[in-house]
Amino acid sequence: MKTITLVCVVMCLTFGMASSHYYYGHHDHGYHGHRHRIAFTAVTSSTTTYSSGTTIRFTTVKANYGHAYNNGNYRFTAPSNGLYVFSWSIATHTSYKGHTKLVKNGSTYHQARCSSGYQQCGATVTIILHKHDQVWLESDYSSIYVYATYSSFSGWKLN
Ligand SMILES: *[C@@H]1O[C@H](CO)[C@@H](O)[C@H](O)[C@H]1NC(C)=O
Repeated sequence: MKTITLVCVVMCLTFGMASSHYYYGHHDHGYHGHRHRIAFTAVTSSTTTYSSGTTIRFTTVKANYGHAYNNGNYRFTAPSNGLYVFSWSIATHTSYKGHTKLVKNGSTYHQARCSSGYQQCGATVTIILHKHDQVWLESDYSSIYVYATYSSFSGWKLN
């Protein structure tokens, strides 16, 4: 009986290690906790001016666990119902504004303001999303100037 138990324990451990290796892989710099996680950060890649209502282009993806952020249309799509957090930070240039709004499926969820001068502004919000709901950032002024590579958009699922 003891032998059978021992064999079972060894087999379970071996299988467990093999399957966790399979799921986690080794392309994430040793980070092994991302299997069920939804989290991303994307940043701008060049100075761009945006007219009102234009989607801000965070083209450079720094992290995208769960692949819910799409850097083709710059939108986050909720993979499941839940509570999410989004945070963004826009770098402006002197004599331009950096007004932005977080949009959920076409409706404004929150707005952030920054006036002329070198500034860094944005907001952090908690939001309930249903599966397939989309979230993105838009210019909220006739002409905003998003400076260089210093602007970022991040989001993650809380539960
Ligand atoms: C939000 O938009 C997505 C994609 O168009 C759609 O699948 C989803 O049903 C919309 N959600 C609501 C609450 O309208």
